[in-house]
Amino acid sequence: MTVDRLFQMFPPSPDLIESSPDRCRACAVVGNSGNLIGSHYGPLIDFHDVVIRMNTGRIKGYEADVGIKTTHRIMYPESAIDLDNSTHLVLFPFKIQDLEWLIKAFGTGFSGRSYMPVKSTIKANKDLVMVTNPGFMRYVHEIWLEKKGKYPSTGFMAVILALHICDEVHVFGYGADRDGNWSHYWEKLKDKKLKTGVHPGSNEYNIILQLAKQQKLKFYTGW
Ligand code: C5P
Repeated sequence: MTVDRLFQMFPPSPDLIESSPDRCRACAVVGNSGNLIGSHYGPLIDFHDVVIRMNTGRIKGYEADVGIKTTHRIMYPESAIDLDNSTHLVLFPFKIQDLEWLIKAFGTGFSGRSYMPVKSTIKANKDLVMVTNPGFMRYVHEIWLEKKGKYPSTGFMAVILALHICDEVHVFGYGADRDGNWSHYWEKLKDKKLKTGVHPGSNEYNIILQLAKQQKLKFYTGW
């Protein structure tokens, strides 16, 4: 039922660039690591056809280091922000409520609860919404992470998604700080014992480095 309603409201098939021998789909995946600060990656990031950002990753005030273009923003109800008319909202659902949230947030408003406060309504272009199959998280966890950690991070899933939909994947903004914490480029870390939360951060990082070594993607270390 929920899924039927979902695909009445949103495009039933995703708006992806088809693969073709006379085109190279170049994608930048921008994580939220503090190593972006001082990187001057902004213009390089914006040069990609597709720029994938995630959660509440800021732009204002950080343009020189992170760029200004966002073609796709991955989010959960708990990390949702309003988007402009040309950005794809990409939902990575893993509970039914995530799908219900999407329907209600574009309509009369969502009033349910979650482990964090959830935005009741959202501004974004309905026709550009994309929803991954909930099985995607399981696939990434089982196949790519060999079930390490509790579940994959948003950022790691974003990289794997990009490998599936792009010909060239450039990865920015990944990596813990020197204390092993996943701090963000726009804020001072509050929880000094954060580490990488429930996610197998160093496994994910090593897999990304390995993929870079195999030239499946290009990894930008930042500062
Ligand atoms: O914290 P948030 O989930 O919004 O960050 C997005 C993603 O960026 C994370 O899921 C993680 O994969 C990556 N990240 C990172 N190093 C950091 C912060 C985030 O690799 N210091």
